[in-house]
Order: sequence, then structure tokens, then C-alpha cells
Amino acid sequence: MFQLTRSVTWQALERLHRDTANDRIGDYFSHDPQRFEKMSLRVGGLFLDYSKHHLSDAVLAKLLELADHSALVQRRAQMFSGDIINVTEDRPVLHTALRSLGDEQVIVDGQDVMPEIKRTREQIRAFSEAVRDGTWKGYSGERIRDVVNIGIGGSDLGPNMACRALLNYRHGDLNFHFVSNVDGAHIQKVLRRLDPATTLFIVSTKTFSTQETLLNAKTARRWFLDNAGEDADVGAHFIAASTNRKAAMEFGIREENVFEFWAWVGGRYSMWSSIGLPIALSIGYEGFLELLEGAYEMDRHFIEAPFAENMPVLMALIGIWYINFMGAETQAIVPYDQALHQLPAFLQQLDMESNGKSVDIFGQPVNYKTGPIVWGQTGSNGQHAFFQLLHQGTRYVPIDFIASLKPEPGMEEHHFALLTNMLAQANAFMEGSQKGSQLDPYSCPGNRPSSTLLLDELTPRNLGALIALYEHKVFVQGVIWNINSFDQWGVQLGKRIAGEISERIDERTQDFDASTQGLLALVRQHFPAHQPATQTQAGRSGGKTKAKATSQGKTS
Ligand code: F6P
Repeated sequence: MFQLTRSVTWQALERLHRDTANDRIGDYFSHDPQRFEKMSLRVGGLFLDYSKHHLSDAVLAKLLELADHSALVQRRAQMFSGDIINVTEDRPVLHTALRSLGDEQVIVDGQDVMPEIKRTREQIRAFSEAVRDGTWKGYSGERIRDVVNIGIGGSDLGPNMACRALLNYRHGDLNFHFVSNVDGAHIQKVLRRLDPATTLFIVSTKTFSTQETLLNAKTARRWFLDNAGEDADVGAHFIAASTNRKAAMEFGIREENVFEFWAWVGGRYSMWSSIGLPIALSIGYEGFLELLEGAYEMDRHFIEAPFAENMPVLMALIGIWYINFMGAETQAIVPYDQALHQLPAFLQQLDMESNGKSVDIFGQPVNYKTGPIVWGQTGSNGQHAFFQLLHQGTRYVPIDFIASLKPEPGMEEHHFALLTNMLAQANAFMEGSQKGSQLDPYSCPGNRPSSTLLLDELTPRNLGALIALYEHKVFVQGVIWNINSFDQWGVQLGKRIAGEISERIDERTQDFDASTQGLLALVRQHFPAHQPATQTQAGRSGGKTKAKATSQGKTS
């Protein structure tokens, strides 16, 4: 059995870590005046500067050897060609096919899936144009003014982030709202401001079985029927993006308004599918196509570029250096761009739900670190929130700074301040407050690494490339760690226990730990309908609480 940490390359990296642990990043620049030119890379409208990293030439060369000796070339080819690489769910992984704009076929179960992908794109085009030009009418004959996406996780974070990022491209007469939390406050806050006659709901759920989404969709439908339409009108105000056509239609969505996608699209990789409907509605189908094109161009780069000039591969290897050798536990994402303020949350699911794994693809426990804790907030806000810890704390946190170069007309002064703040921070993290001198208690030690990723402009194309870049970075890390980045069994456990608790809240069950039982008792006090059977009732039924009709008329 292959042992990653016993490979010659891995052990050479461990030696290099010992040899370079006390290096100062700033000194690398003194030793090599060409460092910035050598350690920066442009792909399309994206420019990556990775020179401010704790990477000697020898370390970088050895990391590239790690990629060369991994299964990356083979696994990458398998992914793009539709082989089953999501081994625990027995599925291919084909979010890349969703944005494939070439003529290549992609075969799944013996059938080329590109024709149905193109049919769905056409369905998205026709629908988004109808809503945007007012052809699509609500039950009272008025055009749609508000679009509410109801979804969670990958059925929310991707379209939500993209619509926010591309607000400048949004249709002026359409407003977009995203409801995800099962906390009623979330949907209430949105519904109270809307007119049911001009509101369109998109029920976005791959499985059409997620508790939060179904409850929110049910509440939205109740609100619609209580305030406006008849059952027959639901079809003009509710559509679905799902793989589960049957369940969507049982909810009351017309068959032609179910925008399908497929099991071989992971939730956190699904914004390129009909889950991206809010994006197409917001920026138009042409804009959505540009988003796909940007991702497609990054796909081609990922496939064709040598690893030493391959942006996703380099970012992945840098992350592995910090996680597996330099001891970093987290990765900070700091967009110096208010339009990207939801990017950290999106990347959190993309990375942590993909690589938050502790067994390899053979089901064997790994003996090395895998996915980091991904977190972040926009700059310059972060400077006034958590940068203190990053500058003078005891933690070692690599940072991805992300910004777009082109200022918005009239906002040049703001944008100049934004970008110069970002460059200043990246320099301060690296240099510290006193170059090379004995540190006094008020100074910053520096030697803290960062990448700077610049978009020429925050356009649909460049955003598509940025997201695909991080998708492939996560993929490369998963391949080198030999884990399955495309399942998420860990989230099923919580769902199952939530079901058990809510179904049995009426019982004085001993099946849960004392803490949960004690807390349940406190919760029950606020839900009169969920009072457990009294002791005598329990006594009559021989000690076990007898099944009894609950307030909803069902038995527990
Ligand atoms: O978090 C678990 C998860 O399955 C995610 O992978 C997914 O994006 C989210 O829940 C929502 O799932 P669905 O789109 O099926 O409602």
C-alpha cells in the first residue's frame, strides 16, 4: 500500500522544512532580484503573485516533484472524461462538462451527456430571457420583479456569491433574494417586503430532500396561497433546479419548469448548472455564458499547462507546504473587493466539504493533515477585526489576497486606497515592523506568507476563471492526499440525528446523552404540542411511552 509520508519526495520535503524553517521570506528577494518575475503567473484576466511565500527554489522544485509523482495527471484525465472518481457514491465528477464549450463528447454510462447539457443551457436561456423581458407573467398578469432563491449549501452559496459579485451587471428591474437558513427569521425578513403577484421562487435543491429547503419552500408556497394566488397559480411563481424531477412536480412545480441537472454534479460544484439560474436571471444569459467561458478557459489551462506554470497546481502545492510541513491549520481568504464579500463563505464549503476528510480513497485512515479550515472576510475590514492576530498572534496563517485592478468610474480614490492598503498589508505581513532587528514587544515579527491574486476587472469571465481555479486547487490537493473530494458523508450524520430528535421530541427517551435530554427538556417548554406522555400514560404502556397522536395528527 502506497504511504504518502514514506515517499522519498515527502521525506525530502520534511528535510527541506527543517533546513528552511528559519528562513526569512524577505531574504529570498535579496538573494534573487528576479523572484517576483519568476514567481508570478498570468492566466487570462487573472494574475497570481506567489513570491511572498516561505518557498525556497529547492522547496518549490520538490513540491513540483510531489505533483509529478502523484496520480494527478491520470486523475485529472479521469475527471474530465467522466470516469467514476467519486468512488463512494459510484459517480463521475463532471462540473467541468457543464462549462465545456468545445466539441468533445463526455460519456456517462455509455452516453454522451453534452447534448442534454446543451438542452438545459437552452432552457435556461429561454427562461431567463422571458423573465428579464417581462414575457413571463405572474398569475395576475404582471411581470416578475423579485426572484427568491430557496436553497442551502451549494444550492445557495455559489449563485448567491456570483450574483453579489456581479451586481454591476444585474438587470435593473429585478431584485434577488437568497433564503437558506431554516430559521424562520430568514424567510420572514424576505417575504414581508414582497408582492406575491410579482415574485418568482426558485426551489434550488439537488436532492429535493433537504429539510431546510423544503420547509422554506413550503412556507413560501403557504405565503403565496394565503396572500394571492390559487393552487393553479403556483406554477407561474415556483420553478425548481433539481435532479429530482418527480419530487419537484409533487411540490406543485410544472414539469417544464423543472430545470434538471445530474447526480454527477456535486452540490458545491453546481453553480454552472441550473443551480446558476439566479445568475442567468440577474446578468442575462450572455453574461452567464461568459462566466462558463471563463471557467472553461481555466479548465484548458489546468489541463494543458506544465505543473510549474499551472496556477491551480501551484496554489495547491503551496497550500500543501503550509498544511503538511509548516504546520498551518487554516487558510485565510481576504478579498479586497466588497463585491466578493461572499467569496470566503463559498470557498469554505468548496474546500472544507471537499477535503475535510480523514480516510483515503481506500477507506484507510490517513496519517497526515488534509483540508484546512478556510475562513476570511473582506479587506480593508479585516484590518480592523482579525489582522492583529495575523500580525502579532501565535498562529501561522497563509493568506490569499484577492482584488480587481480596474476601478469603477468615479470611485478611483476609493479603489486606490483599497489596493494600496492590500499591498501594504501583504508587505507588512512579510517584512514585519523592523527589518531583521531584535524584536521589541510592540513590533510585528513578519515572515507571514501570502499570495496576491489580481483580476484585471471583476467580470463574469474572470469570476468564472477564479472559481474554476479554486475548484481545481481543491481537486489537486485531494489527489495528492489521495482522498475523495466529492462525497460528504460527514453531513449525513447530523441530518439523521436531527430527524431522530425531531421525531422523538415528545418522548422521554433515554436514547440520547444526558446533555441532549436536558436541553430537550428546556426546548420542549417552548413547544406545548411536544409535551411527552405523562408518567401514568407511560406506566399504562408498560414503561415505554405509547405512540400517541401529536398535534399534527400523526403518530410519533
Ligand atoms: O451540506 C450537505 C449538502 O448535501 C451539500 O453538499 C449541498 O450543497 C447541500 O447539502 C444542499 O443539498 P441539496 O442541493 O440537495 O438541497
